[in-house]
Amino acid sequence: MAKKKLLTAITWEKFKALPPGEKAGYLSTAEREVHVLLAQQFSRKRLDAIGHLATCIRRVAKTEEGMAFLQSQLSHKRAMLFFTQPSSRTFLSFCAACQILGMQIGEVRDASVSSEFKGETREDSVRTFSSYFDLIVMRTELAGFVEKMAWLLSNSDRPIPIINAGSAKDQHPTQALLDIYTLQRSFEETGGIDGKTVVFVGDLARGRTVRSLSSLLTHYRDVKQIFVAPSHLQIGGDVLAELSAAGSRFELRSDFEASIPLADAIYMTRIQREWDAAASGSEMSLAEYSFGVRHLDMLKKGAVLMHPFPRTGEIAPEVDHDPRAVYWRQMRNGMWVRVAVIAGMFGKDASILEYFNKLPGER
Ligand code: NCD
Repeated sequence: MAKKKLLTAITWEKFKALPPGEKAGYLSTAEREVHVLLAQQFSRKRLDAIGHLATCIRRVAKTEEGMAFLQSQLSHKRAMLFFTQPSSRTFLSFCAACQILGMQIGEVRDASVSSEFKGETREDSVRTFSSYFDLIVMRTELAGFVEKMAWLLSNSDRPIPIINAGSAKDQHPTQALLDIYTLQRSFEETGGIDGKTVVFVGDLARGRTVRSLSSLLTHYRDVKQIFVAPSHLQIGGDVLAELSAAGSRFELRSDFEASIPLADAIYMTRIQREWDAAASGSEMSLAEYSFGVRHLDMLKKGAVLMHPFPRTGEIAPEVDHDPRAVYWRQMRNGMWVRVAVIAGMFGKDASILEYFNKLPGER
């Protein structure tokens, strides 16, 4: 197989100007991801493989011996979690994922306590991490920054991998992977994701999780995506252009209640207030785009209700006990998927699958 040209084969200026679908070609080899930056990097084959690996890992982790095996996989590697935007789930699930693989972890969660405060550029900070660590997991409010760093590190003496753990308003690829995994598991008995209708609700203009998941859903046959939001928070034209180019079906609506019975999966989101200018938009409300107990009767029997969390009133806590409310499971799935992603990047998928295949009894 011809060796793939990765980020050393292109200038930053040229790479920066490419559409996501073309950037993706510089980030993965045929077998694995070198950096995880964009949803567009993942083919259907990779989505299936990552889901399978995550399921094997969760099974292996059930025993003390299996956990010790997993922890031996990357005990010689260290990860830096660099999160300059608030995070609970993503941060902690990456922490847990690294620990499951035996990695040592360093963290910076506030640029004001790093040398950035003394005037260092963020580029220099990240290069500094690459001197001490083998992986950088990064959440940032700066659009394009994670790509810039991946390019820079790839073209340095310490070309370590980067995982995008949420980048500005544009991408959150590992969230999309865990969302796909949750859908795969939810529809295991009902023909998989193919042919399903996914309804996205809320602040679709600025929610990066929706943008990444929407892109991954184009890999499934005959999926319909319905975007339900007030017009000023509707999904971006770039996402719709990608869906059209992929031949995926979609519809834009603003009537939440009428959309509920159409869904096999509903993906609720919160208003992304942090992007509002101080005085504007803060009074904006999505009250009519909230899922309450009375909506449960409108939801199909086999449907699932998802949310990337945090929730800020979009789903009433009384809904949590309904078996179709899968958001807590979705969250835990995030940890297993992140273990699978990291294991894959470091070439540990084969050894984990081999261990799994030798497990006795029912797997
Ligand atoms: C999301 C994010 O940060 O984009 N959170 C998460 O990672 N689960 C969603 C959100 O903040 O609304």
